[in-house]
Amino acid sequence: PLVTTTEMFKKAYEGGYAIGAFNVNNMEIIQGITEAAAEERAPLILQVSAGARKYAKHIYLTKLVEAAIADTDLPIALHLDHGADFDICKACVDGGFSSVMIDGSKYSFEENIALTRKVVEYAHAHGVVVEGELGTLAGIEDDVHVKADDALFTRPEEVEEFVTRTGVDSLAIAIGTSHGAYKFKPGTKPQLRFDILEEVGRRLPGFPIVLHGASSVPQEFVAEVNKYGGNMPGAIGVPEEMLRQAAQMAVCKINIDSDLRLAMTAAVRKHLAEHPSDFDPRQYLTPARTAIKEMVRHKIVDVLGCAGKA
Ligand code: G3H
Ligand code: 13P
Ligand code: ZN
Ligand code: NA
Repeated sequence: PLVTTTEMFKKAYEGGYAIGAFNVNNMEIIQGITEAAAEERAPLILQVSAGARKYAKHIYLTKLVEAAIADTDLPIALHLDHGADFDICKACVDGGFSSVMIDGSKYSFEENIALTRKVVEYAHAHGVVVEGELGTLAGIEDDVHVKADDALFTRPEEVEEFVTRTGVDSLAIAIGTSHGAYKFKPGTKPQLRFDILEEVGRRLPGFPIVLHGASSVPQEFVAEVNKYGGNMPGAIGVPEEMLRQAAQMAVCKINIDSDLRLAMTAAVRKHLAEHPSDFDPRQYLTPARTAIKEMVRHKIVDVLGCAGKA
């Protein structure tokens, strides 16, 4: 069934694991993720960005997710990723989502609270849960560009007031991750501010925290992309050991998009390089979908710890 994240987060918090939140924008991605989650009995969050909504259209994505739910008996939440304003959140609440993120992190503390509060009032009146964000991530999204120097870690002393005054159901924090495939300088040791996560967890006992920018950028995918005609030098992600650690702490939702893109692109490049006369999309999208499925299975089983929790 389509569910909110309330129950999944409660169990994840208590069980010391995290739910995978995977970005979707077409049928093969949705199928690959859902097949892995169904086989591993993992609760699942499928999330849609503004860019994905523009690319595929709202109705296609909600219908595809509806099909994924009908095809399995998994608890699945459909979530808006990085809602930039009230209107897109309202459109997703009205249009069948069970969860929305309002990302007011680029505004002042007071403006972020006011905007987030407004979304919470509307969403809660319609049975939809809300994720807010405090602190800004470095990196690139469709509509948000933040320079590394401008990335601001979440200030733990602000989280209680933010959560109380907005009424949000979960909170994304910035502890050093970033969006995309280039998260750390090559040659440097990736570091996350676990001290901030710990302090946030101490101040908000039992409250679910969200980690964005959590792709690990598996080097085997990068190598495959580069081997078969791609050019992604220095692509680096968050070490999986750090994600395991975060999942054992207050983090209940781990966002993954770049790893899906990499798995898919590596598989497509490899297939086309090895079968230059193929031109039926099913020929290269079949291995692409399988690559997504196996990557997601690995996350569920070996990183997030949510296998068997559905
Ligand atoms: O948070 C960013 C996600 O990876 C979505 O990216 O805005 O390019 O769809 P997008
Ligand atoms: P990645 O780019 O690390 O996959 O992050 C995705 C994300 O945070 C979506 O909101
Ligand atoms: Zn994000
Ligand atoms: Na957790």
